[in-house]
Amino acid sequence: MTLKVGLIGTGWFSKMHGELLAAEEGVEVAAICGSSKEKADELSRQFDDARGYGKITDMLDSRKLDAVYICVPPFAHGEIEHALIQRGIPFLVEKPLGVDMEAPTSILKGVQEKQLITSVGYHFRYMDSTAKARQLLKDKVVGMALGQWMGGMPGVYWWRKQEGSGGQIVEQTTHLFDLLRYLLGEVTEVYAAYAQRVMHNKHDNVSVADVGTVTLKLASGAVANLSNACMLSGGGHTGLSIFTDGNNLELTHGGLVETAGENTHEYKNVSNPYASETRAFLHALRTGDTSGILSTYEDAWKTQQVTVAANESAQSGKPVKILALS
Ligand SMILES: NC(=O)c1ccc[n+]([C@@H]2O[C@H](COP(=O)([O-])OP(=O)(O)OC[C@H]3O[C@@H](n4cnc5c(N)ncnc54)[C@H](O)[C@@H]3O)[C@@H](O)[C@H]2O)c1
Repeated sequence: MTLKVGLIGTGWFSKMHGELLAAEEGVEVAAICGSSKEKADELSRQFDDARGYGKITDMLDSRKLDAVYICVPPFAHGEIEHALIQRGIPFLVEKPLGVDMEAPTSILKGVQEKQLITSVGYHFRYMDSTAKARQLLKDKVVGMALGQWMGGMPGVYWWRKQEGSGGQIVEQTTHLFDLLRYLLGEVTEVYAAYAQRVMHNKHDNVSVADVGTVTLKLASGAVANLSNACMLSGGGHTGLSIFTDGNNLELTHGGLVETAGENTHEYKNVSNPYASETRAFLHALRTGDTSGILSTYEDAWKTQQVTVAANESAQSGKPVKILALS
C-alpha cells in the first residue's frame, strides 16, 4: 500500500523531508500546506502527485493522508497538531515543539488520549555515533558533560525574535539538551545566565539573547553545562563532551572520538540520520511497531520542559527544578 504523506510548511526543512520521503519506496508526497497557497503550489510542483493548500483544514478535508510532516517555525504550533489529533492522523513534527510549554502540553494530552503515532525531529538520536556512544557508556560512571553550540544567527526572520523561536536554547541548542537526556538520563534542575551582547545592535528586531550558559543537575548525580552563542562571524563549533571513569567521548556532527587511557578511537557518522528517522516513522505507520522511533512527542516534551526551564531561570536569576508531568 502506498503511504500518502502531507507536508506543512514550505521552507527549507519541508523540502528536505519531502525529498527524502519521495525517495522512499511506497511513499507519495500527496499534499503540501503553506502559509499561502501560492507557496504550497510552487513546492508541490516538485512532487509527482502533490496538491497545494493554504489552510490545513482544506488539505485534510480534500486528501486522505496516512501521515503529516510538520515543519513550521516554533511559534506556529498548536492549531496544526490539534487538527491532526482530532482526525487521528499520525505526525512527525520538527523540533522544537513550541516557544514555551503551553501548546506542547495541550498537544501532549491529545496525543496521549488518541495514542497517536508521533515522531519528533531530534535527529541526533539517529546518528551512528549516538548509538555507539550509548554502547560505550554502558557500565561507566559519568561525572559530567560539557556541550557547546557556537555559531552565527540563522537568516529566517522568526529566529531572532524571542516570541518567534523561543531563543537559541529552545530552538537550536535543544538538540544538545535532547542528546544529553538520551545518553545520560533525566535532568532535575537547571540554572541559566544569558546576555545580549551585539546582535540587537547589529540587526533590526533582534530580541533573543546572543550568548547563554546553562548548568544542569541530572537524576544520576552527574552534572553538565551546555552553552551557546549566535553572535559568531565564523569558526563555530557544535559538540558534546562526556567524561566518565573509563573514557572520554567527544560527539560532533562528524562522529565520535573516544579516548580511553592512551588509546583514541574515531567512529565516523556514515548513515543519514534524517533518512533513518523517516524510515523508523514509516515502518511504524505500516506495522504499528513504534520501537524504532527514538523521539516521540511524549519524550520530546521533556526536552522542551528543560529548555523552557532554562529560559525561566535566565529570566529570574534562580535555579529551576524540573518537575515530572502529573
Ligand atoms: N532537525 C533539524 O536539523 C532542523 C533543521 C532545520 C530546521 N528545523 C526545524 O524545522 C522547522 C522549520 O524550519 P525551516 O528552516 O524550514 O523554516 P522556514 O522559515 O524556512 O520555513 C517555515 C515554513 O513554515 C510556514 N508556516 C508558518 N506558519 C505556518 C502555518 N500556520 N501553517 C502552514 N505553514 C506555516 C512558512 O510559510 C514557511 O514556509 C523549525 O522548527 C526548525 O527548527 C530542524
